[in-house]
Amino acid sequence: MAIPWPKHSLHLVLTMIFFISQSSYTLQIPYIRYPPRQLIDTPHRRSKSDPQQVHISLAGKDYMRVTWVTEDKDVPSIVEYGKISRKYNAIIEGDSTRYRYFFYSSGKIHQVKIGPLEPSTMYYYKCGGYGPEFSFKTPPSTFPIEFVVVGDLGQTEWTRSTLAHVDSKDYDVFLLPGDLSYADTHQKLWDSFGRLVEQYASRRPWMVTEGNHEIEFFPWIRRHTFKAYNARWLMPYKESGSTSNLYYSFDVAGSHIVMLGSYTDFEEGSDQYKWVETDLGKVDRTVTPWVVVVVHVPWYNTNSAHKGEGESMRKAMEELLYKARVDVVFAGHVHAYERFTRIYDKKPNPCGPVYITIGDGGNREGLALKFEGPTSELSLYREPSFGHGRLRVVDESRAHWSWHRNNDSQSLVADQVWLQSLTTIKSCWLTTVHKDGSYIKNDEL
Ligand SMILES: [Fe+2]
Repeated sequence: MAIPWPKHSLHLVLTMIFFISQSSYTLQIPYIRYPPRQLIDTPHRRSKSDPQQVHISLAGKDYMRVTWVTEDKDVPSIVEYGKISRKYNAIIEGDSTRYRYFFYSSGKIHQVKIGPLEPSTMYYYKCGGYGPEFSFKTPPSTFPIEFVVVGDLGQTEWTRSTLAHVDSKDYDVFLLPGDLSYADTHQKLWDSFGRLVEQYASRRPWMVTEGNHEIEFFPWIRRHTFKAYNARWLMPYKESGSTSNLYYSFDVAGSHIVMLGSYTDFEEGSDQYKWVETDLGKVDRTVTPWVVVVVHVPWYNTNSAHKGEGESMRKAMEELLYKARVDVVFAGHVHAYERFTRIYDKKPNPCGPVYITIGDGGNREGLALKFEGPTSELSLYREPSFGHGRLRVVDESRAHWSWHRNNDSQSLVADQVWLQSLTTIKSCWLTTVHKDGSYIKNDEL
């Protein structure tokens, strides 16, 4: 016998639907953006001969550079390493440097290039014969590979939570598009920053380029710029045929990564321009199907902060990147997140790079809250929140990009998109269109 359907049941169901819809509405309340948080001081707790501020960076095919600082100047620049913890079967000696900045005198900055190393392998290492053992994993030799991208990091409570979110999921290489410590001539903040990031940067390669906070220019008195940055964050510029630590490139697992310098000459005919032209000209897309550029000042930006600052560099270099069919350009500087469509010369172009601004690591200056209206057709997602990004290159044609908003206690994916490598889009290799609308077939180039 069928059970009679009570009259008030319909009301009950409608009421439940109402409350469920209300609760889901409540969950969609816009994220509240908090103000900047205070600086973290990361003190030195080891002995004078122990390594501090340990970080690693890729240094040419199958090599890694280990960098660390000691207060004791007599500690040798040696790294012992091996694939089994505390059983080192190799020892390599490198170089060291020091620098002075007014009354500040740096510790001994050791730089040791170790290898050849095997891909996707854990290595254990000890610096200078003193202190704790560290370990790192080398990147894979083939796809998939995962990059973490986060700029304008600083050293605040926000920085700490962003880095904790980054660390909650494995990755292979860390890309930092400028503005590291925000020391801004206070040299001890470089030391504090080095100690803050050590637990991450000693385990995965950190590849950085410079921002305005690395310049440390002092008018009339100290005109030599990037003194601390160049001494502390030596990147593989010599390995990539560059003559300056301010711009370089490297290959990793089918990806060619070009780190550009916003604060050195970039005009046509300049050293950087000529180097980029040569570097991009040498890329073999059958070996590295993905080409990614990292630079500090964004060439495309709809935030009112730093508006137009990247325009002269864009005008000088955009055509080089477009002709080379660069897949993605990451930038920092603007303390917000913004993802653009594929662009060339301020217009949507299916063969131009995707531009992404990700200067939202969590520095002391806070967020760039104001985006300009009306929304540009070029800008697909923009949000003034802290966070980090992840580019997971799955194979020669597909990569997944995700932006993880730093929601204080947890990391939430707020934006994501699948990207296709321009290598696999045949129509992009038939012709090259110039700014004036003229075009030529690529076999005439
Ligand atoms: Fe900046």
